[in-house]
Amino acid sequence: MTYIKDLKDFDGQEVTLKGWVYNQRGSKSLYFTIVRDGSGLCQCIISQDDVSEEVWAAAGTLTQETSLAITGKVKKDDRSVGGYELHVTDMKIIGASDDYPITPKDHGTEFLMNNRHLWLRSQRQWAAMRVRNTIIFSIHQFFQERGFMQMDAPVFTGNAAEGTTTLFETEYFDQPAYLTQSGQLYGEAMAMAQGLIYTFGPTFRAEKSKTRRHLTEFWMVEPEMAFYDLDMNMDLAEDMLCYIVDKVLDKNKSELEVLERDISKLEQIKKPFHSMTYSEAIDQLKSVETESMLNEMFTSREEEQVQLKKEIEDLDKEYGQAKKGRKYRIDARKKEIHDRQNQIEEDLRNIPVWKKNIESLKWGEDLGGSDETILMMQFDRPLMIHRYPTEAKAFYMKKDPENKEVVLAVDVLAPEGYGEIIGGSQREDDLDELLHMIEKHDLPQEVFDWYIDLRRYGSVPHSGFGLGVERTVAWLCGLKHVRETIPFPRMLGRLHP
Ligand code: 4AD
Ligand code: MG
Repeated sequence: MTYIKDLKDFDGQEVTLKGWVYNQRGSKSLYFTIVRDGSGLCQCIISQDDVSEEVWAAAGTLTQETSLAITGKVKKDDRSVGGYELHVTDMKIIGASDDYPITPKDHGTEFLMNNRHLWLRSQRQWAAMRVRNTIIFSIHQFFQERGFMQMDAPVFTGNAAEGTTTLFETEYFDQPAYLTQSGQLYGEAMAMAQGLIYTFGPTFRAEKSKTRRHLTEFWMVEPEMAFYDLDMNMDLAEDMLCYIVDKVLDKNKSELEVLERDISKLEQIKKPFHSMTYSEAIDQLKSVETESMLNEMFTSREEEQVQLKKEIEDLDKEYGQAKKGRKYRIDARKKEIHDRQNQIEEDLRNIPVWKKNIESLKWGEDLGGSDETILMMQFDRPLMIHRYPTEAKAFYMKKDPENKEVVLAVDVLAPEGYGEIIGGSQREDDLDELLHMIEKHDLPQEVFDWYIDLRRYGSVPHSGFGLGVERTVAWLCGLKHVRETIPFPRMLGRLHP
């Protein structure tokens, strides 16, 4: 058996592929059957003259997703999908597939999500999963090359890590327990044993938010470093993101093509990233420049809307007399325009809301999704926002010795509206300060006793961050919603399949 990705090594030779029918078209004596085998797509040409009568009859029964073993001679053909064709001499059906529910027509998202177990076979989903794999593998490579030790944090926990409002509660025999929100606190313990560590596991948030960035179960990589301050932490985050982007650009060119990703945007992801304090971010959001940028955006969207409406009218007038080929192009263009119109309508609805959000934003509050989107409109590289108000962030973050109103926290925002992909900080290493913050956040001290011990026995400055895998996949693949970035997404209202 040969894999489609290896066909380049078999030019002119006879091979057998095993896979599934992706698509088939045919004429009287010829079928063009596109086969997928998980490693790629290959066009197989079945000619009545080249195969037995039985094979020819069987070829006539092939339907989408029928599994088969197909034998033939490999021939280079640059126009063909994958660059190689198979001139078929033999074929055997392995498993039939009648009425496969996902056809090339447009299905709604809800339908596709209900059929996620099958949808995974479609080209775009296939490509996204491969990019996800590269991202995960390159994260391990990055940390392993730098001498970090991977550790597994527990999933059942007895305490909150990231605020008590997003905990999934469960029962642990007769005690209350929670699904972990973050491996960080355990990572801190291990960093005191091993120096440089990272956890990489599933994390859970019972957030009732139905945004395109939220899952209830997502994967997070969390490095934790003894003797690192905030600046070292930020440098590491920057290096890691550049490393991941480089690996994806290197290994997933064809997947990014399937996803129609504009890779010039990813090629710009280089050091140094932009960086500003939270206070500077607030000033920028409330600046005259931002206001006029939003006003200009609103006006230009309105103008575009008028132009597009006119274009549709012209196309409609032309349609009646148009030849078949032209009709086809008009339909395609109209679809493009409709998509753009939807986007414009969304923007026109959003901009006034965004402006209101900025107006009501007060120093001390965490930044919202729209604030992040607006800040990032001016940047094509990630933005690191640091030194957030103490009251907006988690209990474990270290206060800035220069200004106790802020903590040594950093969030990294991805460009193109993908929002926060990293959250991190230097940790509070002072016993009394930590006890004070636990009390202030109204957290039960008993369950944190083990964590507090880390400050009792050889406490050191230390830092870490968490990168959300799904938001990173969405960004690098150019996917609008995180539901397509993980094999079986768990989100509000979605537990099956
Ligand atoms: O900012 P967060 O909540 O930080 C932590 O959990 C820290 N304990 C990390 C650390 O310092 N070790 O989450 C980190 C990242 C976010 O920036 C985001 O990428 C992702 O995790 N994330 C989510 N991804 C998908 N769905 C959600 N509901 C997410 N919540 C956070
Ligand atoms: Mg965060």
